[in-house]
Amino acid sequence: MTSNLLRGRTLSFLRWPDTVDDHSAWRYEEDGGLLIDNGKIIAAGSYADVLKKAGAGVETIDHRPHLILPGFLDAHVHVPQMQIIASYGAELLDWLNKYTFPEESKFQNAQHGRRIARLFLDEMLRQGTTTVAAYCSVHKASAEAFFAESHERNMLNIAGKVMMDRNAPEGVLDTPRTGYDDTKALITEWHGKGRQLYAVTPRFAITSTPEQMEMAGALCREYPDLHMQTHLSENHAEIAFTQELYPWSRDYTDVYERYGLLGQKSLFGHCIHLSEREADALSRSGSVAVFCPTSNLFLGSGLFDYQRFRRREKPLRIAAATDVGGGTNYSMLRTMDEGYKVIALNGEKLNPFQSFWQLTRGNAEALSVADKVGTLDEGTDADIVVLDAHATPAMRLRMETVETLAEELFLLQTLGDDRAVREVYVAGRPAKSAIVA
Ligand code: GUN
Ligand code: ZN
Repeated sequence: MTSNLLRGRTLSFLRWPDTVDDHSAWRYEEDGGLLIDNGKIIAAGSYADVLKKAGAGVETIDHRPHLILPGFLDAHVHVPQMQIIASYGAELLDWLNKYTFPEESKFQNAQHGRRIARLFLDEMLRQGTTTVAAYCSVHKASAEAFFAESHERNMLNIAGKVMMDRNAPEGVLDTPRTGYDDTKALITEWHGKGRQLYAVTPRFAITSTPEQMEMAGALCREYPDLHMQTHLSENHAEIAFTQELYPWSRDYTDVYERYGLLGQKSLFGHCIHLSEREADALSRSGSVAVFCPTSNLFLGSGLFDYQRFRRREKPLRIAAATDVGGGTNYSMLRTMDEGYKVIALNGEKLNPFQSFWQLTRGNAEALSVADKVGTLDEGTDADIVVLDAHATPAMRLRMETVETLAEELFLLQTLGDDRAVREVYVAGRPAKSAIVA
């Protein structure tokens, strides 16, 4: 692949920014350059410096006056729910039974799975999201379709087929044995192939028997470098049902704990109604709590206590995510806008640098992939988003009064969506403009 030099206003984070004046937490170049070769960023800095390193014959792609950031990461999203996003009027368990499970049963048909996987990844790229941690359906073919499509695009994605063997209709159930065997076959075929990563994915404690939970734990022990993803403490009816199904458990988190599912690469969607003991257990194990604001508001599940989790004596690692189709928007900008409001309802604030840290480096750290993506550091993969804060008439008008980078970022978060995403690069290749309508 030939080298490219991207020019624009580059922004990348080094660590969590405490305040909007915490300048050493990020690197911002008003006239920045990124030299890309073979899918990787090989030089980053001021355009003038990077140009010197680039040598003759390198093509400059000029994105001025737009912002160039690392591509966004979405830490929890359901591929088979594209056609039930915006389904009216139910809380979690009813929503699953009424809309989600019937919809996911369509993925018995492999062709349907391939079509949705393609449209899903197109949509992610249109929104500036270059990495997801995704749930496929229970059907092995749905995960095969997702990985094949992701691999073809050379995206770094984490995904797994859900394991579920009870409390759902026949068409979306596996068994402890087939769940284990299919997962193992998928790991063998896809984990580490190109940029693909496998996540062991027991849907949640309610839809797995103790036998299946054992199997999920066994897989995590057999493949200790894999991710594990599931749902935890989303709403009160779910928590009560879980306690009925696992009467021996001290609390919901204890169920996952007993089956050996906590750990550095364990991603727990929602974590809204955690006790202090549960938060301590997640913290101690280095597990990740995934904040899904649009979903939590849409399903009326509750308010994730972001700042309390960060600041407690035993802090939680936190990621942010859309949780489509419980979530109501594919855009991580829209997601952080709703996240800001959830955090405000808890009497706190998330400043714009903190938000953009979360969307990029923060999520990459939470997903244990920050050595590859989530920054513009030299040596990392060139997964990049180009943002335009003048994308719509209303944004253009507001930009007339914007004076600082913090204000611009906040505007992008508050009014921005896919229209603000001018271009996306996946491993150095233009990916948004390459989508065929
Ligand atoms: N809990 C178990 N499955 C799901 C799901 O698909 N979406 C959400 N929001 N919560 C869940
Ligand atoms: Zn979910």
